[in-house]
Amino acid sequence: MSRQVKLIAFLMTGPTSHHHAMWRHPETENRFLDPLWWETLARTLEAGRFDAFFFADATAFYNETIMTKGGQMSLLDPVPLVAMMARATSRIGLGLTMSTSFLPPYSLARTLASLDLLSGGRIAWNVVTSASDREAMNYGLPSLLPRGERYDRAQEVLDACMELWASWSDGALVVDKESGDFIDGDKLRPTDFKGKYVGAKGVFAVPPSAQRHPVIMQAGSSPRGRDFAASSAELIFTLQHSLADMQEFYVDMKARVEKAGRAPEDCAILTSIDPIIGETESIAREKQAYINELVDPQLGIALVSAHTGLDLSTYPIDKPITDIPVEAGSRGSFDVIIQGTKAENLTLGEAAKRFATSELCPQVVGTPESVADQLEEYFENKGCDGFILTPTEMPGSFEAFTRSVVPILQKRGLFRKDYPGVTLRETIHA
Ligand SMILES: Cc1cc2nc3c(=O)[nH]c(=O)nc-3n(C[C@H](O)[C@H](O)[C@H](O)COP(=O)(O)O)c2cc1C
Repeated sequence: MSRQVKLIAFLMTGPTSHHHAMWRHPETENRFLDPLWWETLARTLEAGRFDAFFFADATAFYNETIMTKGGQMSLLDPVPLVAMMARATSRIGLGLTMSTSFLPPYSLARTLASLDLLSGGRIAWNVVTSASDREAMNYGLPSLLPRGERYDRAQEVLDACMELWASWSDGALVVDKESGDFIDGDKLRPTDFKGKYVGAKGVFAVPPSAQRHPVIMQAGSSPRGRDFAASSAELIFTLQHSLADMQEFYVDMKARVEKAGRAPEDCAILTSIDPIIGETESIAREKQAYINELVDPQLGIALVSAHTGLDLSTYPIDKPITDIPVEAGSRGSFDVIIQGTKAENLTLGEAAKRFATSELCPQVVGTPESVADQLEEYFENKGCDGFILTPTEMPGSFEAFTRSVVPILQKRGLFRKDYPGVTLRETIHA
């Protein structure tokens, strides 16, 4: 089979995705606290044969403007929600974000392994280090660690989780009523992980899932974030402004993956796009203009400040922004603003507004055929291995994409017609 596009739906348990007017769209249902609504959405995405959906997460309100104006936020812990959505489906991968900066590895490993086991091996863990001090404060810490140290800690957390997940050999769970043997202790390897930041000593108490451990997904894209991803991620989520930016990132990441001793195809690079589909090109363009116009301008600056950890309210709004060291927040988020600024000479105000629509990633606008053409162009020109799709209306964006674009990609032989197996790892390596 030729190289296949991967499709992952971007979700958050709140009013927005990347698009900060999503919740204000007339057809958005805003039923993000209703478990039945999420179950229906999971079935829709599975009917569209999406590789997975995944929940981005924030464990704090990033700032007052974002909270009061309905910006990016999570109003639920994705863990129980993913468990419910797993019960409503049988094949689609289930991704969730959990930060390495707050919880001890045993706690993360136990939650993720339990979800992975109960879902039949369909979990992906988006391993993030977090970008906001407010999240740290919610966990009783004064602030986040500096980026370098956050990644040092992340590496330790991931190494410890991997060690815990590797504890059980096949056949360790015996459950023999006759003999009275329940677990074969010889088949369990205790963990003794001692790091600078975290540790874990003892026997891991969750049996392995059908894919043994969750698929590892990563989103940081500072040089440190890229190396972290290159060594362990099977899926990378990236923000890129144009095909040229995607290609630059793709070449750089695949080289880092090889340098880390892995095959380039072991790590799929998924770029964020925002599909807006219409019956005709002009209807699609009108839909785009309509939804973008609904974004509250204040949200743009508030959001960019939150993502980058910079107070951008002190910078002139009517001038293009130049490169600034990003110590606290996400370098990857800032890079996409610099890309947009350079390519289109955007002022900070314009870049911020665009960030609040699609985080400056492409809005792929047109008829189903032309949306499929644009995705094919990014994919065939090695801009990416697939897409993180962000909606502008919920659940309409995903329903429209599933109904109209997926069959075209399938007909062109770019996207598989069914799931190859059960586990997420089988799906993404098909
Ligand atoms: C595309 C992308 C998506 C991200 N998604 C999340 C997320 O859902 N939750 C979160 O806490 N941090 C998220 N982050 C930030 C990560 O926490 C990241 O580990 C940290 O900001 C360092 O990123 P950097 O290496 O790009 O500087 C994301 C970052 C990027 C670039």
